[in-house]
Amino acid sequence: MQSWLRRKSIDQVTVHEEGRRLVPTLSWPHLIALGIGAIVGTGIYTLIGVGANLAGPGVLLSFAAAGLVCACAALAYAEMATMMPAAGSAYTYSYISLGETIAWVVGWSLILEYSLVVSTVAVGWSGYAVGFLHGLGIDLPTALTAGPHAGGIVNLPAVLITFVVAGLLMAGTKESATLNAMLVLIKIIALTVFVVIALPHFETAHMDPFMPFGFAKSMGADGVERGVMAAAAIIFFAFYGFDAISTAAEETKRPERDLAIGIVGSMVGCTLIYVLVALAAVGAMSYTVFGHSAEPLALILRELGSPGAAKVIGAAAVIALPTVLLAFLYGQSRIFFVMSRDGLLPRRLSTVNKRTGTPIATTLLTALLVAALAGVARLDEIAALANAGTLAAFTAVAVCLLVLRKREPQRERKFRTPLAWVVGPVAILGCLYLFWSLPSKTQLWFCAWNALGVLAYLAYGRRHSRLAAG
Ligand code: ALA
Repeated sequence: MQSWLRRKSIDQVTVHEEGRRLVPTLSWPHLIALGIGAIVGTGIYTLIGVGANLAGPGVLLSFAAAGLVCACAALAYAEMATMMPAAGSAYTYSYISLGETIAWVVGWSLILEYSLVVSTVAVGWSGYAVGFLHGLGIDLPTALTAGPHAGGIVNLPAVLITFVVAGLLMAGTKESATLNAMLVLIKIIALTVFVVIALPHFETAHMDPFMPFGFAKSMGADGVERGVMAAAAIIFFAFYGFDAISTAAEETKRPERDLAIGIVGSMVGCTLIYVLVALAAVGAMSYTVFGHSAEPLALILRELGSPGAAKVIGAAAVIALPTVLLAFLYGQSRIFFVMSRDGLLPRRLSTVNKRTGTPIATTLLTALLVAALAGVARLDEIAALANAGTLAAFTAVAVCLLVLRKREPQRERKFRTPLAWVVGPVAILGCLYLFWSLPSKTQLWFCAWNALGVLAYLAYGRRHSRLAAG
């Protein structure tokens, strides 16, 4: 085999895990809580405003389109995760199915995804924290609560929350199932409160025109690309995080049943909640009122004359969004860890602290970069770039699903994606269409990031890879 396509076998990955099997203790309710904990975050709490600005009331369709693509990708993840219960998710599946070079590109894209999700969620958290403090009569100066694009100097709350979460991780904090379940409940109750209050204010007049900027992405006179699909490409952010479920495959009691229910259940659950929240939001008032807000859901409730409920939403966001930060910052260190264990990144990146068992240096380095970005960047721009990285990974996982169905049809699959030859292509084409719908600037940034990645691979990874000898 040409060394550009050198790849690992499934046995290499799973045998590596022999004798270190995790105890299967989880069943589907745990998995649904795990999934919703990592999925519900800044996407629904903040980016809904950005999406409404790009699509008008048609943002409802944006949610449905992004949800469908994610559901198909999630099913592909479930099959891969049960076949190869090993760390590294899309990167590891690609290493086995598509070879090292593609795996590198996927890993490099995952680094972009995980870091930028942390920055985005930190900025989204800051919007709610500042609004919540304002409600308590505490006003922080704009210079310290917004980046230069919004007339400030640095978004200090976003920087601070990143370091707080990184600190927790470095101290060895693990997500506790009970705490996670409580925070999931808080997030869901807050969104339910929002729907119950806003939905009765629904007016059909607010839905007209339904798609003021059309369906496909198109350039407006002001140089901004809008449309239902342009919004879907941003709203996509709200749906991912379910790879948290697939990484728990090994710990699941009945993966063939529980994984399917966990992944599909949390995706369907989130899509339903999201469409209801979006319907309540765009029906209750013109999207032009909340489209630019840093805390759109709280703003809508205040405008509707419910300041108390607005405070509840703000408090829920402030308390519960950090779990998304924790999940992705943790995921980031895991990706570094696996890539460095394979020799593609320097070995130093996979050293863990003896006392806490966590990769302190890597976490700190990641936190520094992510916090610097969160301090000055624009929410929609970093979210779009995070989405580009994620779309690359999702596409790769769906391709892996199809490649392995052909190459290893006999291998045991504890969970089989139903209608794989429909679901796989829908995931691939859907991801490509969403990628095309991203702002052109984002696509350029993504290509630049991967060009840098390919240079890094040629300069280092290719020669230091543990497969280099074989
Ligand atoms: N889906 C996660 C969120 O919306 C990343 O915050």
